[in-house]
Amino acid sequence: MTLKNLFSLKELEIHEIVRILDDAQAFRDGAAVPNFTGRIACNLFFEPSTRTQYSFQVAEERLGLRVVSFDPGLSSLTKNETFYDTVRTFDSFNPDLLVIRAHTRYYDELSGLVRTPIVSGGDGTGDHPTQSLLDLLTIRQEFGGFEGVRIAICGDIRHSRVAHTNYGVMQRMGMDVCVSGPEEYMEPGLRFMEFEKALRECDIIMLLRIQHERHGGHEGMTDEQYHERYGLTKERVERMKPGAIIMHPAPVNRGVEIAGDLVEHPRSRIFKQMENGVYVRMAAIRRSLEGELWH
Ligand code: CP
Repeated sequence: MTLKNLFSLKELEIHEIVRILDDAQAFRDGAAVPNFTGRIACNLFFEPSTRTQYSFQVAEERLGLRVVSFDPGLSSLTKNETFYDTVRTFDSFNPDLLVIRAHTRYYDELSGLVRTPIVSGGDGTGDHPTQSLLDLLTIRQEFGGFEGVRIAICGDIRHSRVAHTNYGVMQRMGMDVCVSGPEEYMEPGLRFMEFEKALRECDIIMLLRIQHERHGGHEGMTDEQYHERYGLTKERVERMKPGAIIMHPAPVNRGVEIAGDLVEHPRSRIFKQMENGVYVRMAAIRRSLEGELWH
């Protein structure tokens, strides 16, 4: 059977992405879910996570799987066991699914050596496929489709796997995508728009957290300076295009990229994104467990 890994949305054709979104929407609308009772998922999060880790767990449990959650701090990583040996150890237990988040593009070193299907929960600054799927589902629910929908992804683009995955997949889906924020966080080759112009013209303002943990101690502006220049404030929300929405993958740093009382503003879809996360992860797990039967 062909392994249905999911490391990056670049691996998927558009019709496969749409199929996952359709499955997720059907689950959300109350359709019967597949029953994977008796299967086991191992969730290996080598980087901290709240949403991805626990929404995968909820998704797995909704599908009837039993879940084993790995705790790096209580594992033999503390005895210098490597990432590779840790993953191969879980693979040798013969589970049905591995969900992995790691600090780097981890999956190249596993290629051909792991027999369990893997769904990525994010790899360093590289990709975050299920986050982008839940973002796409939220956008489709809001705008009915993707063609021509204008999004500005704002903030620490360079260190954000969410920005990297979304920029590529949203363009492929026909969206009009740009990035915005401080020059030091931008990346060459991506279309840039000034923040004020993005606020006035875009249908979606997607805010990102500053990823201090990936800056290697080389900090630019302070949180206060960032909020003053690029934070979404009450005044700036009023300049947003009518009908435009606020998105954020979270965790949110209130008072930095967004004022605290805007997190649940009527324009905000932040908690709706999280809700959709369970359904897209159910759909992604189904794809991995059904293998070639999925098509
Ligand atoms: N959006 C996201 O990946 O959040 P977590 O890091 O909490 O999983």
